[in-house]
Amino acid sequence: MRVAVALAALPVLAVQAVRIIQGNDDGWAELYVRSFHNALKASGHDVVLSGPAENKSGSGSSDEDPEARTKACQYDSCPVNSGVSGSNSTDPTLNWVNSYPVTAIRYGINTFGPKVWKGAEAELAVTGPNVGTNLWVQVPFSGTVGAACYAVDDAGIPAIAFSGASSGTLAWNTSPVPTRSLVYAELATILVNQIIDSGKPYLPESVFLNVNFPKVEGSCTKASDFKWVLTRINPGTFSSPDVEWCGDDRLPTETEVILGGGCHISVSIGDAADKTTMNDAKKQAQVLAKLKDILAPLSNPPTSTFCACRRSVGQVSQELQFPLTMAPIDRCLASMARLSLMQATRPAIPSIPRFLAPAAVQTRQASVVRIKKAKKKRTIPKDFKRFNLSKRDFPQFSLCEAMRVLRAVEVGQPPASVKYEVHINLKTARNGPVIRNSVRLPHPVQSDWQIAVVCPEGSEIAQQATAAGAVAVGEETLFEAIRQENINFDRLICHESSEKALNKAGLGKVLGPKGLMPSKRTRTVVADVVRSMRDSAGAADYRERQGVIRMAIGQLGYTPDQLKANIKVLLTKIKSEASEISEDVSKEVHEVILSTTHGPGLSLNGKLRDAEEELTPAALSSIM
Ligand SMILES: *[C@@H]1O[C@H](CO)[C@@H](O)[C@H](O)[C@H]1NC(C)=O
Ligand SMILES: *[C@@H]1O[C@H](CO)[C@@H](O)[C@H](O)[C@H]1NC(C)=O
Ligand SMILES: *[C@@H]1O[C@H](CO)[C@@H](O)[C@H](O)[C@H]1NC(C)=O
Repeated sequence: MRVAVALAALPVLAVQAVRIIQGNDDGWAELYVRSFHNALKASGHDVVLSGPAENKSGSGSSDEDPEARTKACQYDSCPVNSGVSGSNSTDPTLNWVNSYPVTAIRYGINTFGPKVWKGAEAELAVTGPNVGTNLWVQVPFSGTVGAACYAVDDAGIPAIAFSGASSGTLAWNTSPVPTRSLVYAELATILVNQIIDSGKPYLPESVFLNVNFPKVEGSCTKASDFKWVLTRINPGTFSSPDVEWCGDDRLPTETEVILGGGCHISVSIGDAADKTTMNDAKKQAQVLAKLKDILAPLSNPPTSTFCACRRSVGQVSQELQFPLTMAPIDRCLASMARLSLMQATRPAIPSIPRFLAPAAVQTRQASVVRIKKAKKKRTIPKDFKRFNLSKRDFPQFSLCEAMRVLRAVEVGQPPASVKYEVHINLKTARNGPVIRNSVRLPHPVQSDWQIAVVCPEGSEIAQQATAAGAVAVGEETLFEAIRQENINFDRLICHESSEKALNKAGLGKVLGPKGLMPSKRTRTVVADVVRSMRDSAGAADYRERQGVIRMAIGQLGYTPDQLKANIKVLLTKIKSEASEISEDVSKEVHEVILSTTHGPGLSLNGKLRDAEEELTPAALSSIM
């Protein structure tokens, strides 16, 4: 009772304050995300930002542990050599991680947030506003959406992804702050407060919202100029009916609404599992009920607000200049979504009793005594989740078809900056030995390795290694440089006579995570250093992480035959290794996915080209 009385005396807040984790993909120092951060704070929320150290636009659901940063962060927002992640020196609610948007929000959810919130977890995740739209076919590639889907799907936190059509890069300290950044921040905060005010659960299970703002220009320059419209991400031609709204059982698509003109904001009900529309009228109805207050009025003028938008479909498709024809991209949506299923294990966060949480959190139903049920611990299955490929839920592509789609995605990128990657999904247990080795590809992707050699100082071996091009040789001098993380090589070979000295130096902590620790098993502790150096020129390392082996497999300019040869050699090597690893460990290749630096992942069906395809390997052999 006393508690209730004390709470009743608190000032009534305009909105219930909650703990919000914030991410984006344009980089932690981009102005849009900072304006939104400030607007949420001003509204009373406890918001913690964790974004990538630099622009990681287009990286979808990629997630990789961060590596130490050598360069300054975007817009000089962190100094050189600042480590794998960092915080603003005076404001711990602003954080960066030197990796992908998904990784950044994962760190935010697991580390930065609980640190600021004294162990409590985020209640809501928001990402963006992204610089530029994220509509339909753009959605699977968006790191802003990827991070939101990670929050929903992997961390169980309701999430909203925001994107704004007005683009152009702006540093966090731009002054004065341009109107567009302020308007997007205000609009996004309005939606966040609406969702919070509607009560928990903030969103139905597995749902995320994909929100797109039109350009801030012309007659759309103040927050009050804009109207909210409930939408779908992809057209629902073959889907079950949507929730009944606007006298129709098919919601308009976000593309129609945003490109249809007018100051319309699209709010799409997305499915975090595959980044398409949540085709479940019941869940849609729950979202509709939450947003009804702010959705565009339907009676004045009658139903025209967005029903009118639907007539502009023809015009829309002409305006939409995506690099791809729709058919293949539509098919790769599902394939992309699968990549988001590669999840990293999360350390458990201790949850603190509710009464220890910041007082403002308790404003709702303060007089009702609630006992929070202990959270069920997620049991982690022994094996990595793998789908039955023959059920064909997910399309597979011939190598040529996959290359065609990926090259189309990469149009306009400088060819040298783009590489093909393979992701080999293994059927394997979570615990147990992992595959790790190096392979000489017939068409090496990187051949200019910088090699260092551990061998007795001043020995003949040292001289030979230097003559063969080693960038550093020796024992103690080299060890000291490694301890200082002064690592200017990407391979380390050790002569067997120096193995003891190497092991005594205790460098595993530094070299291990980088995959540089020499060992007999990886044939980097050797008797003939020069020969090994020669062998490893043109060799590429690979390593199984989370049941997946990822490796650069070709330059964008490679022909299908070159790529095929590389994939074949790698697969043969991995298959033989998987069968040799141990008698009681079962490990097999489950699926091979081809991707590029900015492209989606496409599952390969093992053929060079499908019989009905008119595409010839020759057509793909030109440099773009
Ligand atoms: C860090 O925070 C301070 C104080 O809030 C602010 O003045 C500064 O611009 C911030 N710097 C970055 C890079 O976020
Ligand atoms: C980030 O990079 C993408 C493409 O690489 C570009 O389209 C986008 O405008 C960039 N965003 C920022 C904020 O620099
Ligand atoms: C995969 O699905 C096919 C077709 O439904 C079925 O015949 C096959 O047994 C399944 N394989 C596994 C491993 O479940």
